[in-house]
Amino acid sequence: MITLGLETTCDETACGVVKDGKEILSNVIASQSIHREFGGVFPEMASREHVNLLIPVIEESLQQAKISLNEVDLIAVASHPGLMGSLLVGTTAAKALSYGLNKPIISVNHIQAHLYAATMELKNPPFPAIGLILSGGHTSLVYMKNPFEYEHLGSTLDDAIGEAFDKVARLLDLPYPGGPEIEKLAKKGSYTYPFRPCSTKDPYAFSFSGLKTKVLYTLKGQDSQSTPKKTPNKADIAHSFQKAAIDTILQKIQYVCKKLQIYNVYLGGGVSNNQKLRQSLEKEFPDYNIFFPPKGLSLDNGAMIAGLGTVLFQNNPHSENLSFVPTPS
Ligand code: KG4
Ligand code: ZN
Repeated sequence: MITLGLETTCDETACGVVKDGKEILSNVIASQSIHREFGGVFPEMASREHVNLLIPVIEESLQQAKISLNEVDLIAVASHPGLMGSLLVGTTAAKALSYGLNKPIISVNHIQAHLYAATMELKNPPFPAIGLILSGGHTSLVYMKNPFEYEHLGSTLDDAIGEAFDKVARLLDLPYPGGPEIEKLAKKGSYTYPFRPCSTKDPYAFSFSGLKTKVLYTLKGQDSQSTPKKTPNKADIAHSFQKAAIDTILQKIQYVCKKLQIYNVYLGGGVSNNQKLRQSLEKEFPDYNIFFPPKGLSLDNGAMIAGLGTVLFQNNPHSENLSFVPTPS
């Protein structure tokens, strides 16, 4: 089964072609650079860029997969959550393809697809498992019965972890997206500032806004406006912030795995690309089965949408009614 997957939930215009839910024939991602100067995603501009980029991205993806549109068996599209205008572009294109080619269409949850990405290269991914989504818009813990059936355990109470990386990067005058920039700068610093994981009453929940505020106070003083007496070292701030953010994840994994007696863990989303996070998890939990998305599948992409779409369709073969609407949350 050949599935074409479209991803336009935020600022990546992406299309992937996947065979039988696992074998990636192509995975083309156009990252919109227009947002860099704003320090975050400008939603209206993101939608307009999707309109410009989507057809060339689909064509490139088919070309790399060495197939024609007629050879596609299923159209999968990320329909939620995301920016409304961006979602409308992807879902409208997917509906047009489905209608024009007379092929079934299936809508996919973007967040679930991030976790599916971590299972894609595995022959027999172990279940049940704990899923941890670490992206720019979401930070959630789920119990995974299998690659597509989940039970929600907890989420962030305020900022998502990627959002915290992006906001701290902005405070440090680093460009968007901030995660990779912080990771780079952190290598030049050390753990100098006593930033620590924010605690939450609900043991399955997360909180990152307090940590972000600590960085703000360190840089600009308690009133967020004055200049501290000693000039803060940005590399040390990046290092200390990253350590506290990673420690939050380590603590959460340790708690939930012990509590539920499940030692299989799948991670997904842009922050799971962080090499320091990966090394820390491998070092801290050598006996756990911890799986990350393979190269190219951590950040938003179309292959994970096509992959999850295929599995969902195979388990419940039905074409979506073309009147389905994207939902931002
Ligand atoms: O999953 P994703 O591509 O998009 C969303 O669904 O949000 O995640 C994007 C987020 C951004 O906040 C970005 O700064 C963060 O992932 N990110 C990273 C790294 N690479 C991307 N954060 C920390 N370290 C990285 N290496
Ligand atoms: Zn994402």
